[in-house]
Amino acid sequence: MDVRSFILLLLAALFCQSISAEKLRICVVESIHTAKRIHRLCPKFGPLRSQIECVIGNDRFNCLRRLITGNADFTVLEPEDLIAVAAYNEYNILVTNELKLFPNEKQRFEMVVIVNKNVNNRWDIKGNRLCHPGLETEDDWTKAFSTYFENWVIPRECDPTKTLLENRVMGLSNFFEAACVAGPWSADTVYDNKLKSKYKNLCATCDNPAGCYSTDKYHGREGALLCLTDNAGDVAWVRLDDTLEFFKVNQINKTNYNYLCPDDTTRPVGFDKPCVWITKPWPVVVARSEMAQRVSMFLSSLPGQNIEKQTILQLMESYHVTPVSTDNLETPDDYLRRFSGFMSANNRANCRPSRTVQWCVASNLEDRKCRWLREAAIVYGVEPMITCIQEQSKASCLEAVRTKRADIVVARPEELLDARKKGLVPVVQAVPKKNEDLNRIAAIVKQDSRFKNLHDLKGAKACFAGYKDVAWNSFVTILRNLTGGSRDCSDASVVGNFFKESCVPGLGNDRKDVPYNVYSLCKQGRIGNDVGAVDCLDSGIADVAIGNLKNIEKKTGSIGQSRNGHARNKEYRTLCLNEEDAEQGKTCLITWATLSTIVVNENTTSLRREEIYSMLLEMDQLFGVSFKGQTPAFSLYGIYDFNRSVIFPEETQHLQFDVHQIQRVQNYNEIVENIAKRPACSGAIKLNFDYGNTILLYISFRVLNKLLNG
Ligand SMILES: *[C@@H]1O[C@H](CO)[C@@H](O)[C@H](O)[C@H]1NC(C)=O
Ligand SMILES: *[C@@H]1O[C@H](CO)[C@@H](O)[C@H](O)[C@H]1NC(C)=O
Ligand SMILES: *[C@@H]1O[C@H](CO)[C@@H](O)[C@H](O)[C@H]1NC(C)=O
Ligand SMILES: *[C@@H]1O[C@H](CO)[C@@H](O)[C@H](O)[C@H]1NC(C)=O
Repeated sequence: MDVRSFILLLLAALFCQSISAEKLRICVVESIHTAKRIHRLCPKFGPLRSQIECVIGNDRFNCLRRLITGNADFTVLEPEDLIAVAAYNEYNILVTNELKLFPNEKQRFEMVVIVNKNVNNRWDIKGNRLCHPGLETEDDWTKAFSTYFENWVIPRECDPTKTLLENRVMGLSNFFEAACVAGPWSADTVYDNKLKSKYKNLCATCDNPAGCYSTDKYHGREGALLCLTDNAGDVAWVRLDDTLEFFKVNQINKTNYNYLCPDDTTRPVGFDKPCVWITKPWPVVVARSEMAQRVSMFLSSLPGQNIEKQTILQLMESYHVTPVSTDNLETPDDYLRRFSGFMSANNRANCRPSRTVQWCVASNLEDRKCRWLREAAIVYGVEPMITCIQEQSKASCLEAVRTKRADIVVARPEELLDARKKGLVPVVQAVPKKNEDLNRIAAIVKQDSRFKNLHDLKGAKACFAGYKDVAWNSFVTILRNLTGGSRDCSDASVVGNFFKESCVPGLGNDRKDVPYNVYSLCKQGRIGNDVGAVDCLDSGIADVAIGNLKNIEKKTGSIGQSRNGHARNKEYRTLCLNEEDAEQGKTCLITWATLSTIVVNENTTSLRREEIYSMLLEMDQLFGVSFKGQTPAFSLYGIYDFNRSVIFPEETQHLQFDVHQIQRVQNYNEIVENIAKRPACSGAIKLNFDYGNTILLYISFRVLNKLLNG
């Protein structure tokens, strides 16, 4: 071939490549830790004749789904994430590169068991003392790793009178004479303390057995080695690289220690062939199979002058990482099989009867999110497992929990009364970061209104946000209390007797059973929501609006005092129960509710509740706002494939059991409890209170109040 035809051919090749070269789309996960980096680096791909483009996801599974749907070409996953994919070959995902911190290391790390000279096989370790780094999930330290060794030596216990966690702890406690397993065992600190005082021997060899904290000298990677070499323990579950380094630095005499092998033999630590129990792979680059070749070639090209390549490396977590091509493009399953123990670590026999928590969801979208949560929870070692049960509606989910077809469901405040009436009770609450995001029910008047407190409203005109919603239920409960525990059967009659006139939108078919003055203020076209109630107040039709400040304040701005006690709203104020509070310029609430509540059947045993509660807290720690590491595998409260507030409201900051009081105002759960306890009405009998009677009651209430309060 002469030079000319060679050049022609070359040009043709280049030309073909440039027209065929669609951009390679990298999916990067935006989190509080990576956002800055992403927004600095991704624009660099923009204007150039770049072959790379950024697609931004909000968790690693989101990026994975984008690969599956063809909306991105490659992304970075943790090996645990890969397990969730490995079972599904139809996903068409291939592993192209490993992101190695040390290019020559086959794996991230390997786990070994180091034993004292006196231990010769697994039977010898029974009754000995264990040194353990701890059970809490850290960056690359997951439950599969922390529990691998004990799972191997101790058969699974399934005592139905104990939680899964307690079964595990009990197994350890019985097997070893003593141990140091410091740091939290359960995400529920109360339960954690309970277990630690019950199974004391598992903290006995810690530096501070009474504390057993994660700050203990014998906690963590180095702690477990110290525990062994200080002769506080005989058996240590540790990383091989840590061990070699530790022995070298501290000049430990290796001849005093052996490796204990999975085949029940031992070998000297001095020996250069350790026996490894389980291996942690590196993070990997995965690509859609159609693009895998191109991704692999792009990443294997020399970084040298290639700005794009350097930028990609910076995007992939750190400057120090070297992408090393896998020998072949492998499926996740084939890839993971190369790492001994890693795949099998997650396949443990389940207890019978199953402890699985059935989570009821009410839409296809919720179901899909729930299934990904299930995968994430399994590979990150959350116990018990969950399964997702889909029902037509939230109401049928509540029914499913009542009839025990499901264990839990997330209920919004407006569903709580229905839930309570079905015999369901809260197990944990979804709490927002800011108080302003809480549901806060209040009675609002104009700043210059003649009304000083809630009692004054007798005979006034009111606009409600809705009928039988949270605001209505709470206000009526307070009203019944104000009017001396009115035994009037119908809520609407209580309201009709108290206010001269009102507007209650959304009465629907109930309208025919409701006194006329309850809806006499309703104008055609009045919108039945919180802002509608304020509009009604603004137009002068009513003296007071009753609704949820969370929505009202979006229109009016903050009502009541700010944190420093100043800057009260110029136009509106809230009414308090008593005047003193009003004079101090407080925001007075009728009640407040968290964003959501997870409910269980009231007959759920305390053991099962504990198990569910700890499980949810653990999910919150792993997949919630305060996830560990750079990016979350799964985002429990964040956007799910472009949809907000799926299963959990997006303002959720964390889950907690007890909600702290705000201003001694009762939580909506107490109102719900109060309503549920009220004797059922026959419905037919309608005690129509005499107006005069009520006034009398009201006056006597005021007199009583005066007497009581001086
Ligand atoms: C290590 O320990 C063995 C036996 O305990 C002893 O024979 C040997 O001298 C020790 N080596 C060093 C370097 O101290
Ligand atoms: C709980 O058990 C009691 C007593 O057996 C029963 O009356 C009640 O209906 C049960 N509650 C639910 C929600 O199943
Ligand atoms: C009204 O509420 C107070 C405080 O919550 C309570 O002590 C009282 O018993 C209630 N009165 C009636 C009649 O329900
Ligand atoms: C979820 O988001 C997609 C994409 O924006 C949208 O088409 C769909 O209607 C949303 N689904 C729900 C239930 O909101």
